[in-house]
Amino acid sequence: MIPTILIVDDDKAFRIATLALLKDHGYQVHAATNGQEAQRMLGEGRYDLVLSDLVMEGINGIELLQWIKTELPETPVMMITGFGSIHTAVEAMRLGAYDYITKPCDNDELLIKIKRVLDERQKERELRHLRDAIEEKYRFGSIVSRNERMKKIFRLVQQVAETDVTVLILGETGTGKEMLAKAIHFNSARKTKSFMVITCSALSETLLESELFGHEKGSFTGAQKQRIGKFEDAHGGTVFLDEIGDVPLHLQTKLLRVLQEKEIERVGGNHPIPVDVRIIAATNKNLTEMMKSGAFREDLYYRLNVFPIELPPLRERLDDLPLLVEHFLQKHGTLTNGAVKRVSPAAMAMLMSHDWRGNVRELENVIKRAIITTTGDTIQSVQLSGAHTGNFKPYMPKTTESGEIPFKEYIKKVVFDAESKYLVDMLERHEGNIKMVAELMEVDRKTIYRKLEEYGIDISKYRHAGDAG
Ligand SMILES: Nc1ncnc2c1ncn2[C@@H]1O[C@H](COP(=O)(O)OP(=O)(O)OP(=O)(O)O)[C@@H](O)[C@H]1O
Ligand SMILES: [Mg+2]
Repeated sequence: MIPTILIVDDDKAFRIATLALLKDHGYQVHAATNGQEAQRMLGEGRYDLVLSDLVMEGINGIELLQWIKTELPETPVMMITGFGSIHTAVEAMRLGAYDYITKPCDNDELLIKIKRVLDERQKERELRHLRDAIEEKYRFGSIVSRNERMKKIFRLVQQVAETDVTVLILGETGTGKEMLAKAIHFNSARKTKSFMVITCSALSETLLESELFGHEKGSFTGAQKQRIGKFEDAHGGTVFLDEIGDVPLHLQTKLLRVLQEKEIERVGGNHPIPVDVRIIAATNKNLTEMMKSGAFREDLYYRLNVFPIELPPLRERLDDLPLLVEHFLQKHGTLTNGAVKRVSPAAMAMLMSHDWRGNVRELENVIKRAIITTTGDTIQSVQLSGAHTGNFKPYMPKTTESGEIPFKEYIKKVVFDAESKYLVDMLERHEGNIKMVAELMEVDRKTIYRKLEEYGIDISKYRHAGDAG
């Protein structure tokens, strides 16, 4: 798009010369002979820059500048000053003029200054667009993701957030269940009310009950005062039942009642109290299995499972990893005053090939630790817990410059890691007896040896002294 400039000056010779100069340099240019005319033209069209004289009849340059600052704050203004009015030019800068130039103008200087202000504006605009796009595409609340499955979840959740529907969030530890619950709350009509977290696993049975529902004075030993429970406290807001799979059976019955009747009863109390809360529950347990074994009430399960959302583990959305790394570098950059700016390709490859049992939380901790221990501006290596990687090195996929894993590399990694895990598991269970393992795997021994070599597996770790393969 060709930038449009408005020249405002009562000096006809200057207007004509500048108009011609700027047109010659590819700009679209209009001219006004005074402040009033400029205001009218600004009101009618869109200008990328105003070039205004300071001393004019009627509305002078300063007044025009002030008007533009309030009416069109995005439009930059550059002042043209005659000799002897430098102090007014300085005043104009203080009032928000972008720059000033003295008359008679040096053409090159004028062109450079104009180009600078327009370039800067353009960059600001691009940055803003980019930021908006990132915000929209990669975020829901403070959850960062570019993964398609996650974005689908964001879309679904955005719709359900506004309603009062009960949401059940499932996912491994550290996948962002609590973050999602918060985002739902803060995207709902209840956002100005409380978001109450109840960690169901953290309390003993009696305490949990009185924590949830409150108690009357003297209802049990130690209940010296009346206590208002979290459900009552959260009235009008959202209750987040974290680790719902850890609620003991007899409390499940009471929870069911809250969900069904929308009322609670304090421990030791004798009348129901109505509560208006939205329920979001989360667990990393398999509730269906628990239901089958009788550890989780079926009726409660169906009450909670109105709108289930399953957060995929990090290893199933590795395309999020570079974005999350970037996010955590920024989030925790303050630990070293922002000195650490990037992650080396080698370190990124290590991150990409880890299996992330602790998911995003584990990644966040790894990055935090790396920021603290890095001396330069680049994280060269990361410390990953070996607990889950067994006795083999995971495959390091080659990444593209932008940090993506090409499809072929991804498949290679999946096959490599799966095979080596399988092999390690076999060796562990059969104490490194290669003959037996080969038979069970229905391959010959040579194949096993070749794979051990390929995967860097040390067979001696699985053998007891004196064993032979
Ligand atoms: N998509 C994400 N974007 C940014 N940060 C994330 C994301 N997912 C998780 N996190 C970070 O990881 C940490 C763990 O997230 P959260 O506590 O929500 O996980 P969780 O699923 O509730 O885990 P757990 O089951 O162990 O309680 C949070 O502190 C948050 O900073
Ligand atoms: Mg949690």
